[in-house]
Order: sequence, then structure tokens, then C-alpha cells
Amino acid sequence: MKKNRLVAAQIGCGKFAYIQDLVNLTTHPDVDLKWVCDISADRAEETAKRFHVPHATTDFMEIIADSEVDFIKIATSHEVHLPIVQAAAKAGKHVFCEKPMAMTDREGYLIMQEVKRSGIKFCVDLNRRMAPAMIALKNAWQQHKTKPIHNPWRYVEGNPRKPLPEENLPHLNIRIQDESSSYGLIHLAPLSGGGEIIGESVHWLDLACWLFAPALPCEITAWGSSRLSHGIYLKFTDGASMTLDFSCSGTFDYPKEQYELTDNAALFRSLGFVENQYYGFPGAGREFFPLEHGPVVKGQDDMIAKYFQRVQEQKNIKSLENSEPFVQDKGHQSMLDGFVKAIQNDTKSPCTELDGFRATYLANRAIAAIESHMTLPIPVEKITPCIL
Ligand SMILES: NC(=O)c1ccc[n+]([C@@H]2O[C@H](COP(=O)([O-])OP(=O)(O)OC[C@H]3O[C@@H](n4cnc5c(N)ncnc54)[C@H](O)[C@@H]3O)[C@@H](O)[C@H]2O)c1
Repeated sequence: MKKNRLVAAQIGCGKFAYIQDLVNLTTHPDVDLKWVCDISADRAEETAKRFHVPHATTDFMEIIADSEVDFIKIATSHEVHLPIVQAAAKAGKHVFCEKPMAMTDREGYLIMQEVKRSGIKFCVDLNRRMAPAMIALKNAWQQHKTKPIHNPWRYVEGNPRKPLPEENLPHLNIRIQDESSSYGLIHLAPLSGGGEIIGESVHWLDLACWLFAPALPCEITAWGSSRLSHGIYLKFTDGASMTLDFSCSGTFDYPKEQYELTDNAALFRSLGFVENQYYGFPGAGREFFPLEHGPVVKGQDDMIAKYFQRVQEQKNIKSLENSEPFVQDKGHQSMLDGFVKAIQNDTKSPCTELDGFRATYLANRAIAAIESHMTLPIPVEKITPCIL
């Protein structure tokens, strides 16, 4: 039976849950957050009090046993996703799971199997694909791709030649600068987090798959440290490609993410999710995107100025985010809303278990490429698995 209001439970009440999940779940118009759960009893109690949630527990099975609960949000460390998903799916509860969906391919297969057998809705929070700036960038690019019209003043070598086979292929360049002193060891340890490729770069592996779909990834190269700074080159069946340059020795005083997509003599840039810039075709210009919470900024420069002002005032921008988030819209709220609508209307989840599996599979292939110093194939049968 179609249900408009959904009862939810949050499992894992750490730093991320405080900044995103608990804010988004308690403000969503169709969601009632009934439970919070953390293995730390103090944290569970503190969370319930702070976000006005009626029930707190240290045992997620108490939530699974509550027949009123429609869906759970998981934001624990990574190694417990599988047992929580298995228990929830068996009880018919829908699952919104934090990235990475799984740490290993086997965990990913088991989750896909559980979701298929139970028929629940499942969503992975690979949220960049839902960020308004990313959706606008994809739309602008696809418009150009369908019918490239170049600026009249574009320089073209005399006697225009036929493009070469590897000319005019889309390339996505992603630059990430992050501050590693903020990383908890739990995210870097092999059994609970898996390091930055498994824990973070799944975002950009997924983003590239989403952007270049229906082409599939077919080849991967990677270098650096799978735990901290690294690079990844991912190639797709239609010749599109992505390079990720992830440095963890940066600073929160400057926006973390910058995207540049080039294709057929045009450039589509996205700066920190607040400003997109387009170049190379008539009418190309700028677009600005509001922050998820907090003050409105006019663009990247304005955001950096505001950041800088806060750093001067507060000395520590990251600790400030707990009380007064200054967060770019990276798509978390839209992902939750898309998941809620998928349950309400029985439609496709905005980021499925197959998307989650592919990101984990590609992350592990990138690690294998680092370990072997080799470019590795992505066999099609691995990323289109048969699930019984
Ligand atoms: N999508 C994003 O942009 C984004 C950003 C940051 C973090 N994350 C993800 O969010 C998740 C949490 O990260 P974090 O930084 O908040 O970590 P954290 O260590 O601060 O929080 C994890 C919490 O889960 C609790 N926990 C662990 N096992 C549990 C269990 N079995 N039952 C109940 N609670 C349990 C821990 O006690 C802890 O409070 C991770 O998956 C991380 O990758 C996502």
C-alpha cells in the first residue's frame, strides 16, 4: 500500500550524521525520525536529545524489530554495512546506505543479492551525482555534445581536416584537495574504513560512471597511496575518460573540489559546487548555486572570501560546521528526497545497489593497479553481474 509519511531510523551517529543525516531526516516533510542508534550509548542518548528523536538504542536489531520503521539510514564505519543491510532487508525495511556501499566485491555481491531477494528499495549516498551543480554541468555538456556550435572567433587551422579518431573525446578532470589531519584512523584502517580510495574516491568513480553512462568503464590505471593521496585514470567504452588527482595535504580553508570536463572544443567547469563556468560556445557563461545551509554566496571567489573571514574569526572552520554548517550543496538532501520518492512511488532509486557495487569494484581495481604498477582491464562481466 502506498504510504506518504515514512518512519525512519538512523544507525551510526558520528560526525557525518550530525552534519547531514540528522539535519536532513528531521527536516524532510515526509519523514518521521523515530530512532537513533549508536554502539556508544552516550552518543545515542546525546543524539536523541539534540535532534529531538523519541528513541535511542545501541542495538540496531531493536530497530529492525520495530514494525513501524519503513527505512533505515546507515552511517556507521564501513565494515558493518553488510550485516545491517542483511537484517533490514530480511525484515522488509528499505535502506539508505552511506558510501562506500561495500568494502569488497564479495560484500557487494551479497548486498545486491539481499536487495534483489527482498525487493526493498536501496540507495547508496554517492551524492555528487545529485548535486545541482553537477546536474547542470551534465545538462550543459549534453546539449553541446548533441549539437556542437562553436564560437565564431574560434581559431581553426586552414583547410579544416577530418577529426582524428581519438580527437574530440570527452575528458573529466577532477582535482581534490583535502586536509588529512581531519581523518579518523577508523577510516584509514584496513578492516573498518579501507583508506581514501575505498572511502572517498568511490564518489568520483561513481560520478564518472553516471556522467558517461550508458558507456561502461573498461580500463583503469592508478598511482600513489590507496590510503591517502593518489591519482586514478578511468577509461570508458566510448573513449571518454576521467582523471582524478586527489591530494590529502591541502587545507579546509579552500574549497575541496574542482571539476573540468572538456569535449569538442568546449570546457565545462564546476568550482566547489557553487559556481559553474562554461567556455567555447555562443552563450556560454556562469551559473551560481546556493549553499545547502547557511549564507548565500555569489560564486567561488565570494565563497573563499567568506571562508577566509570565518577562518580569521573562528580559527577552525571544520569545528564550526557542527554548529553552523557552511556547506556547499553536494546533493545529500536531493539524494534523500529521491530515495523517499522511490519508496513512495515505487520508482527507481537515484543511486542503486549496482551503482554502489560498481564504485567499490572500481576502487578495488584502482588499488590493484597501484599494487601491480599496471593498467588493468575492467571486464564487462564484472560490472554487469548476474545476481540470483
Ligand atoms: N557522502 C559523503 O559525502 C560522506 C562524507 C563523510 C562521511 N561519509 C560516510 O559516513 C559514514 C560515517 O562517517 P563518520 O565520519 O561520521 O564516522 P564516525 O566514526 O564519526 O561515525 C561512525 C559512527 O558509527 C557508530 N557505529 C559503528 N558501528 C556501529 C554499529 N554496529 N551500530 C551502530 N553504530 C555504529 C560509531 O560508534 C560512530 O559513532 C562513513 O561511511 C563515511 O564514509 C560520507
